[in-house]
Amino acid sequence: MNISDLISKLVDFYRRIPPHGHIFGSMTTIPDPTSLYAYQLFIRTNSADPSTFKIVGELEDILVKDISETLYGKPSTGKVLSGGTESNIIAIYSGISKYKSRTIIAPDTVHVSVDKACDLLNCKLVKIPTRNKPVEPSIVEDYVRKYKPSTLVVTAGTTELGIIDPIKELSNIATEYPVWLHVDAAYGGLLIPFLYRHGYISEDLRFYNGISSLSVDFHKYGLSPIPSGLYIVGEPNDLDYAYFKSEYMPTGKTFGILGTRPGGSVLAIWAVWEKYGYQGYEKIALDKVELTNYLADRLREIDKYVVWNPNLTIINIRHIRLSVYEFIETLAHRGFYLYLSPSINAARIVIMPHHTKKHVDEFINVLEEIE
Ligand SMILES: Cc1ncc(COP(=O)(O)O)c(C=O)c1O
Repeated sequence: MNISDLISKLVDFYRRIPPHGHIFGSMTTIPDPTSLYAYQLFIRTNSADPSTFKIVGELEDILVKDISETLYGKPSTGKVLSGGTESNIIAIYSGISKYKSRTIIAPDTVHVSVDKACDLLNCKLVKIPTRNKPVEPSIVEDYVRKYKPSTLVVTAGTTELGIIDPIKELSNIATEYPVWLHVDAAYGGLLIPFLYRHGYISEDLRFYNGISSLSVDFHKYGLSPIPSGLYIVGEPNDLDYAYFKSEYMPTGKTFGILGTRPGGSVLAIWAVWEKYGYQGYEKIALDKVELTNYLADRLREIDKYVVWNPNLTIINIRHIRLSVYEFIETLAHRGFYLYLSPSINAARIVIMPHHTKKHVDEFINVLEEIE
């Protein structure tokens, strides 16, 4: 195929993607152009090889330390991984390696990647029933005593309802037992610190003593291209549990699952962090939670929907006549896209950084029209 045909084919394919302003289900967004530039400039680098690509490794260390200190109050060590799923797998693997048990416990609201991790790692996953509430710390303690797990995974901003588990109390429990506490903040990690400080929510997210690892996605609220996630550990030595021997590499080892890790992601996060920093992300978080609240208020005015109270930037709704599947399909025919919240049999709306009031108003118009 000649190059101009090839490009017109690509453009053709591209036109089949819905505009992001109409995507209200997926937790993806439009990356910041500076971040994209950084990604592209460093596209040929491998962050699994900080010996050849020294600057990438150096920047990875600097940015993890800086972001962790600024957002979560502790200058820590970590890696740029592909996102929440990989971080959950690595955290569980590390917990097993450190505490020598293949039992994992987690509230039943954890992301499905925890099930995936346990499948891959041949673990027993014991889920704590929560009825979609923040998990009760005393119940967690009972489970820890009873099951003696290596790893406890909790969530700061659950996928379906945006619930925040009581991170501080859980971290206190973790200091009392030989257990790896992983805080999955893939979605909430760039919202919670700001919303807490501005009084929107009562649960903060800090790197408390007792937390072994914490993950946050920069391809969600961080405006960095996919894949961009941070995996942060409280004790530098705790990274060692997920290094694997790789004798042909200059350092003799690689971290995590991949053999080649995209160095572009490191530079992409570095660029957005330099560009937005604390105040930039604070503004995004506050703007988007306000937009979420505006949408929730407008939805409550339409009497054909049951509307759940929003948490962070998530709202769940159910059409009073259509099944969730019929509703989502009807919307898709009109060019708008939602996800499911199976645990409450509802459709999930998530406001992401690219959404504007105009997108929300267009969406409301379509929702009003559905009979
Ligand atoms: C709480 C939580 N954890 C993990 C993930 C998985 O993240 P990723 O898609 O970056 O692997 C998600 C995705 O939405 C999530 O909401």
